[in-house]
Amino acid sequence: MSFKTFQARTIQGDINLPGDKSISHRALILAAIAEGNTYIKGLLESDDCLHTLNIFQQLGVEIRKNEEGIYRVEGVGLYGLKEAQDILYCGNSGTTARLLTGLLAGQKFYSVLTGDKYLNTRPMDRVIIPLEKMGARIWSRQDKYLPLSIKGSQLSGINYKLPVASAQLKSALLLAALYAQGELKITEPEYSRDHTERMLQAFGVKLEIRGKEISINNTGDLKLHAQEIEVPGDLSSAAFFIAAALITPDSEIILRNVGINPTRDGFLKVVREMGARIELFNIREKAGEPLADIRARTSTLKGINIEGELIPALIDELPLLAVLASQAEGKTIIKDAAELRVKESDRISATVKGLRKLGVNVEELADGMVIEGPVRLEGGIEIDSFYDHRIAMSFMVAGLITEKSFLIKDAEAIKISFPDFCAILKKLSKR
Ligand code: S3P
Repeated sequence: MSFKTFQARTIQGDINLPGDKSISHRALILAAIAEGNTYIKGLLESDDCLHTLNIFQQLGVEIRKNEEGIYRVEGVGLYGLKEAQDILYCGNSGTTARLLTGLLAGQKFYSVLTGDKYLNTRPMDRVIIPLEKMGARIWSRQDKYLPLSIKGSQLSGINYKLPVASAQLKSALLLAALYAQGELKITEPEYSRDHTERMLQAFGVKLEIRGKEISINNTGDLKLHAQEIEVPGDLSSAAFFIAAALITPDSEIILRNVGINPTRDGFLKVVREMGARIELFNIREKAGEPLADIRARTSTLKGINIEGELIPALIDELPLLAVLASQAEGKTIIKDAAELRVKESDRISATVKGLRKLGVNVEELADGMVIEGPVRLEGGIEIDSFYDHRIAMSFMVAGLITEKSFLIKDAEAIKISFPDFCAILKKLSKR
């Protein structure tokens, strides 16, 4: 389905954001294997997270939605999951597929995981290879793609250097370690989001974290204890509204309860360096995660270099940063971001194609792009989102300031992470 963009004269408002996607997945997973009932407030009810939820129901976990938007998960303990009678469907969700591969590898039963046609072309070998070193038995299409068949087996700890800075890979191994004998020690090449580590510790699992090295020593007596979790608002979703306010005249918005975990806040750092007028206030902590309210106002932006160890902390925001770069004075150079090629779509190619259609001068690099701004965006065309939620939302934001509206193909993908995105953007947009 194509969505038509709409222009805004200004962006104004004060809103609460839906729950963080990464934290919502982890809350469901850890709650399911904990002892006792976990209450999750603010769980993100987007397609991706609902796939994780449905899979745990198939694995025999009672998950109920209370009226106040609170979910109750009746934890079955580490060894209480049951073999599902059917294939486990992950939809478009890489987080579901990769984290659950780690979790299911150590069960005493057989599982099959699959996804939609997009997820089934994304690499799973990054989790399969180290899990096999731990003793996992996994069969996959072409040795790297979903569907996967997993015959649960006894796992053992390994010492492993992650070849990519990927929180999904790190988390798959940490979940497998809950079922492995001995010590798992992993080393990341760069810091990736650490929600799994924070939440495992909140559930009572002891981790040793020394810089980029994380270890769990499993002596067979591990237990997770049920928690009350309040999921912070998703900074990756907040970023779209921040960007909207920065590039639309006379705008000012306030976003409440946004997670500002330092392994996720690269977008805030970069836009500030570009000249964005952003303030964080009411900084506090809940359930081991830092939160803030954020004010963003129209700003004059300048191009910068985005590269190196900052990349994992803003990886999902790069298409949006490219849109912002089209409105910044000078060149913005994005490098070291080859991972973008294996996200929900090839996000380098999708962003470059879309920006060029809007009249922006962009050079495509193997691991990034170079964008020249500022450009008055044209519109009146059709852009392909490649069924990628973040590409679709990034171009909806660009649409606020184009001369003419334009169409974004397959934009219903937005429901993967943010079903209410268009309604909220419309509410904030004054004409
Ligand atoms: C995620 C990790 C990141 C991110 C994705 C969500 C997670 O992927 O891009 O949207 O929840 O762990 P990688 O782990 O592949 O870097």
